[in-house]
Amino acid sequence: MNILILQGSPRAKGNTAWMAEEYKNAAEAAGHKVTVVNVAKKHIAGCLACEYCHGKGNGACIQKDDMQELYPLMAEAEVLVLAAPIYYFTLCAQIQAPIQRMYCVMEPAKVKKMALLCSSYSPGVYDGATAEYHYLCNYWHAEDTGIVTAKVDEQKTEQTKQKIVELVAKI
Ligand SMILES: Cc1cc2nc3c(=O)[nH]c(=O)nc-3n(C[C@H](O)[C@H](O)[C@H](O)COP(=O)(O)O)c2cc1C
Repeated sequence: MNILILQGSPRAKGNTAWMAEEYKNAAEAAGHKVTVVNVAKKHIAGCLACEYCHGKGNGACIQKDDMQELYPLMAEAEVLVLAAPIYYFTLCAQIQAPIQRMYCVMEPAKVKKMALLCSSYSPGVYDGATAEYHYLCNYWHAEDTGIVTAKVDEQKTEQTKQKIVELVAKI
């Protein structure tokens, strides 16, 4: 399947990037095509709520920033993986922007399955992120294949890698 991973951490060698890479490695080993986009390195503004897209824009966003690179990838993705650190008890801002900029097309056309990879320092801080993720799965008519979280003592460990391998097997 065609898998798109949106990686939201600005830390290129951080824990979320590692989780995304492990997912990619396992998925490629299983024969899937995987694209990872570090959205934290892109310039993607928040939605302006101008409604241009739902009027004159006919589905196109008025803002011409790096989201333009992402729209075609989102349109072709069959599996969408959100990978994000927890910032202030929810998904980091860097991943919220591209999610909310999907407002112009309402839903990614081919996404059938989703997964969430999340890292944090503390345990028990995932409720906000998982609630949003579950709402998104419903809203975008995608099957939830599962969630892997990694708090500080679970990061870059063999156990977390194994959980990610098991998650990939659910595609
Ligand atoms: C701005 C900011 C806010 C954070 N907020 C939380 C938080 O609310 N709860 C928590 O457990 N960790 C929090 N953290 C820690 C990160 O979630 C944690 O270090 C995570 O593993 C970072 O992932 P990364 O290595 O991919 O960047 C925060 C870090 C930053 C920079």
